[in-house]
Amino acid sequence: MTASVSGAVKDRVLIFDTTLRDGEQCPGATMTLEEKLEVAELLDTMGVDIIEAGFPIASNGDFEAVALIAKQVKRATVAGLARAISADIARAGEAVRHAARPRIHTFVSTSPIHLAHQMRKSEEEVLEIITTTVTQARNLIEDIEWSAMDATRTPIDYLCRCVEAAIKAGATTINLPDTVGYATPDEYRAMFRAVRERVPNADKAIFSAHCHNDLGLAVANSLAALEGGARQIECTLNGIGERAGNAALEEIVMAIKTRGDVLPYETGIEATMLTRASKLASAATSFPVQYNKAIVGRNAFAHESGIHQDGMLKNAQTYEIMTPESVGVSKTSLVMGKHSGRAAFRNKLEELGYSLSDNQFQDAFERFKELADRKKHVYDEDIEALVDQNIAMAHDRIKLVSLHIVAGTRGPQRATMRLQVDDRIVVEEQEGNGPVDATFNVIKALVPHEAVLELYQVHAVTEGTDAQAEVSVRLSADDRSVTSRAADPDTLVASAQAYLGALNKLMSRGARLHAQHAAE
Ligand code: KIV
Ligand code: ZN
Repeated sequence: MTASVSGAVKDRVLIFDTTLRDGEQCPGATMTLEEKLEVAELLDTMGVDIIEAGFPIASNGDFEAVALIAKQVKRATVAGLARAISADIARAGEAVRHAARPRIHTFVSTSPIHLAHQMRKSEEEVLEIITTTVTQARNLIEDIEWSAMDATRTPIDYLCRCVEAAIKAGATTINLPDTVGYATPDEYRAMFRAVRERVPNADKAIFSAHCHNDLGLAVANSLAALEGGARQIECTLNGIGERAGNAALEEIVMAIKTRGDVLPYETGIEATMLTRASKLASAATSFPVQYNKAIVGRNAFAHESGIHQDGMLKNAQTYEIMTPESVGVSKTSLVMGKHSGRAAFRNKLEELGYSLSDNQFQDAFERFKELADRKKHVYDEDIEALVDQNIAMAHDRIKLVSLHIVAGTRGPQRATMRLQVDDRIVVEEQEGNGPVDATFNVIKALVPHEAVLELYQVHAVTEGTDAQAEVSVRLSADDRSVTSRAADPDTLVASAQAYLGALNKLMSRGARLHAQHAAE
């Protein structure tokens, strides 16, 4: 507990970010190892208390990511997820053991529907499992979080018995998830109150909320849980996650900050980094942020109607409950062009919330110069698309060297492509039913793969006929799907880049792809 500037006492709420676990679990949001490390570093700098880095038993790649994040993160606690299975817990313990603050997060289902159909176990059997698995975890690491999966559909008497057993076996955090996004705020608040009142050893643990957004109530439910006594909230950047997603971190943080009058809590998050974090998560997962998304959407601080604009000019507080600067959005929107130099470009990147390494900056600057040569005005959105793509492509093994298309009314359309695959150059020509089909056919000929194209989407980044086309491609292979985005004034180049980006992601997940064709 700390005193605020106004003198009121505020309870500290721990922010547990699960972008790298529950967020990454949603179809198409797969991140590479490098992207995960970058997101983890930003979360740590931003002040997240606990970073759930992954599910170590899920694959060797997941294990490696959690272990590297555990070593890299300086300040935050690093958690690894484990089912209530001995091998899972051992693997999670091994993955996080080098963290400055390691945590094992183990969970088991407690609701009748999960017990009957998924676990096929009785209530008493699950109680025994809780005691055995939490004890095993506690023997490895001191900081243990236990979750009652589908807590909100679990009868309260049984839920209380489970929570008591978990705390007795050594759990220090108790998470009561709304796994299926079914609860209403009143119900969720009441569940926390009841459990905390009825479980005799409840005072020995911190209670945590974990809400899914199936009914659009994840943030409201998380805030209601605080009134019920929870002091940890589990959330993700941009609210990404299974199905309709999880509670959005940026919304939780800004609701608490903006409505301190009715929500007497505080978090350790540096709110001015929220925009940057949202952009990084969007670039790493290739999941666009919806324009009207609260806090971090492109329109979150845009005022279109005349009445609103008039009010804003007279006093910004007429229509703004928080300033754009408070979440890291800059006011100025200087248009860039081919005469803009390094200093102006660096300044613009800072305004947009990016902090790039020297190498990343150099690459981005070169691409900006190329773009400015082809496009009269380079807008903020163009620069965002360019930098996001640079971040996503930094570790790609397959790179586009050149693409030549023959298209028009007299078919067949033909694509000739040159790729760099590791250190080899490969070339091929293919026909197709239209230029996009020809482009994708030539990629398939150069890098044979079984991946299936699930989504191909194009939209203009800005207005005008010289606007960049932003293309999203989703591919699936071996039960995993990945999404990639790319932008270029040439729609076909953007299409090729997006497709190759998705292939690169699949390759980094170990999918079986083979670069064919001898070097020239
Ligand atoms: O939604 C859920 O119940 C989960 C658990 C693994 C905590 O993600
Ligand atoms: Zn979840």
